[in-house]
Amino acid sequence: MPDPFCISARYINASIMIYQQLKAKLHNLVPDFELRIKAKLAEQIIRLKKKKNAVILGHNYMEPALFHSVPDFTGDSLFLSHKAAETDKDMIVFCGVRFMAETAKILNPNKTVLLPSQKAGCSLAASITAEDVRELKRRYPGVPVVSYINTYADVKAESDSCCTSSNAAAVVNSFKTDTVIFVPDEYLARNVAKETGKTIIFPTLPRPGIAEDKNLDYQLIGWHGRCEVHEQFTVGDIEAVRKQFPDVVVLAHPECSPEVVEAADFSGSTAAMIKYVEDVAAPRYLLLTECAMGDNIAAVNPHREMVRLCGVRCPHMNQITLADTLKALQLDQYVIEVPREIQQRAVGALERMLWTS
Ligand code: 13P
Ligand code: SF4
Repeated sequence: MPDPFCISARYINASIMIYQQLKAKLHNLVPDFELRIKAKLAEQIIRLKKKKNAVILGHNYMEPALFHSVPDFTGDSLFLSHKAAETDKDMIVFCGVRFMAETAKILNPNKTVLLPSQKAGCSLAASITAEDVRELKRRYPGVPVVSYINTYADVKAESDSCCTSSNAAAVVNSFKTDTVIFVPDEYLARNVAKETGKTIIFPTLPRPGIAEDKNLDYQLIGWHGRCEVHEQFTVGDIEAVRKQFPDVVVLAHPECSPEVVEAADFSGSTAAMIKYVEDVAAPRYLLLTECAMGDNIAAVNPHREMVRLCGVRCPHMNQITLADTLKALQLDQYVIEVPREIQQRAVGALERMLWTS
């Protein structure tokens, strides 16, 4: 019988090693006592992950101690979807939000997919229903539907392809039709229209103060969904930061308004923003996206100076903690279910997204 003393000594050593690794990266960002607590949680998570033959996928917005300890893979929505599609593990624990975990489930109907918090939603995914998409299809018969990955499974089931911010323009261009329905992110749609040189209308449900679009010359049909985080960044924010730091390089996620994207130096997915900071030397960077990502970049690129604009946070991504990830593995919660009929209709749209780059 294994000596219980030796086993607990092994666990303590593993947790000390994790603490030291975290400290090397995060000593300037996270207080030491918190790193010690989080290292203990991470050690238990990694142990259980192995026991349950699970893979942990962590989105770039996860808080620094989680991001730099437990995930087997970290990245943007497209990369993590590929990793979910490729995994041979029995279980997927998604440290991200619900639509990401649902995507993993659609791609792996026979595996267990866990999301550590039931509160990890997304304002974009909540902005459109499957019935809304059916109504658009009735109004524009035969027009293909591209839905952003930030949608729920039943919306994906009504779509011809999904896309992420990494490949939105490529997916739209892959349809050789005159017109494409693109839902639900209004700003991403406007940014894609600009990038592809297409005209866009928003025919239904105008927001208060916005009149119905009666333009008859259009190639994209959009929807009025918004990311509650990225819609808050303004050109005024960029101007104020540039005034204080004239040499700052500004990076904006394409869920920001076209005006903000236009005023920025670079726009791309979360992974593309990280790559830009790593590849392009600049005196300092301002990231217009969830603030935790700046910390995650700074942790492994201490020579890069990040200007933090942290008043705006994603309340959904922030639900995912190390403590809840441990509970998820201990209690097998929260299990993501997608009805078989919806999964079968949604998987094709996700596969088309994965093939298009
Ligand atoms: P990425 O695909 O760029 O990681 O974006 C996901 C997201 O939800 C951004 O708000
Ligand atoms: Fe959704 Fe915006 Fe949060 Fe991304 S940042 S998960 S789009 S609410």
